[in-house]
Amino acid sequence: MESVAGRESTTVVVIGAGPAGLTVANLLRRSGIACVVLERRTREYVAQRQRAGIVETRAVRMFDSWGLADRVLGGVPSDGLLEFRVDGESHLVSDSDGSAGPAARLCPQQVLVQKLTAAYLADGGDLRFEAADVSLHELTGDRPTVSYRAADGTVHTITCSFVAGCDGDRGTSRSAVPDGFLTAHAFDHGIGWLTVLADAPPPAHPLLAVSPQGFAAHFPRGPHSSRYYLQCPPDDHPDAWTDSRVWEALRTRLADAALVSGPITDREVFRLRSLVHDPMQYGRLFLVGDAAHIVSPMGGKGMNLALHDADLFAGAVRDFVHDHDDTALRTYSQRCLRRVWSDQEFSHWLTRTLHDAGDDTHSGRFRRGLARARLDRLFTSSAAAQAFAELTTGVDLTGDTQV
Ligand code: APR
Repeated sequence: MESVAGRESTTVVVIGAGPAGLTVANLLRRSGIACVVLERRTREYVAQRQRAGIVETRAVRMFDSWGLADRVLGGVPSDGLLEFRVDGESHLVSDSDGSAGPAARLCPQQVLVQKLTAAYLADGGDLRFEAADVSLHELTGDRPTVSYRAADGTVHTITCSFVAGCDGDRGTSRSAVPDGFLTAHAFDHGIGWLTVLADAPPPAHPLLAVSPQGFAAHFPRGPHSSRYYLQCPPDDHPDAWTDSRVWEALRTRLADAALVSGPITDREVFRLRSLVHDPMQYGRLFLVGDAAHIVSPMGGKGMNLALHDADLFAGAVRDFVHDHDDTALRTYSQRCLRRVWSDQEFSHWLTRTLHDAGDDTHSGRFRRGLARARLDRLFTSSAAAQAFAELTTGVDLTGDTQV
């Protein structure tokens, strides 16, 4: 028989301890607002999950404004340069937009997650790993409840004022919303990427390459490790990419015969797809990060959007709890979606540009011409370069953040 623990109460239950959930939890804690984080996996599993690698300028300044930048950001500051290599010809583009303040950091997601976890726990935060069967109830009332089963088998129920659904695209929060309430806007580029992680020297600058054989990229992931991307059919199997095939394809597409290889520690194939759920709120449930939207990885916006949502949500709860002002809660979805669509557009533009520019097929020739014209403009027009820098740093939209 399963045992039932007593009923608990808090202000916010946060579901999921990825970048979104941990940021929400830390910001609430900074505001003196009680919360409980429920995470399905173990601490070790969450801390090792490798994904994004860049905390954009806007997000760095966001952590700074909450007094957390020094504690939660690792990695190294970006030198503000991005290399585009088109058929072997190199073009350095600055992602410095000229605004004052700290700039982006090359901070692997797992480093951010480890530091956010440590900061939250050091501040006395309540974080419960291995929380199974999380279920949400009475979301349209004043006091929703969240139930879960702890690792020891006891079933817990927590009453709260708000639920932050930070449990990713395959989480449980969004499924608590009745059918038909949310609209899903989905897009599939029909493109696959093989992603490879290797203990091999990082590039001088994040590198994006266009070639007739397809897109390729090389990003730093630490002093001695790199992540590489190779365009491939979306249904390719990673096993079809032997080590020698990976290095040969990278050397060809990056036009670098001397590229230094190293042991490959991970390889995966995924589809480039995008998804937006609208609205991002149902009653007292607020969707944050991947639970609300997926952005294709080109442009590095997925994790940064999660951090943006977390900032707006925590600020809105703070206004409500401390000032009895619910304006920011009521406009949460609308304000988040403004940036979500802006980042989707940037990611879509960059994805199309860098894949179409290498498309040498008969049917692709027209789009190839368009894409190369866009690159030409980016490399030669200071106004185009400035617009690109604003989009990359995330300081393109004003009036939507706490910063
Ligand atoms: N109950 C509790 N926790 C859950 C549940 C559940 N039913 N389902 C998922 N989770 C947890 C996952 O184990 C994970 O730790 O929720 C967390 C969700 O984290 P992410 O998937 O990383 O999503 P998010 O925090 O929104 O991160 C935003 O950064 O690089 C990216 O791809 C990543 O774009 C994503 C992003």
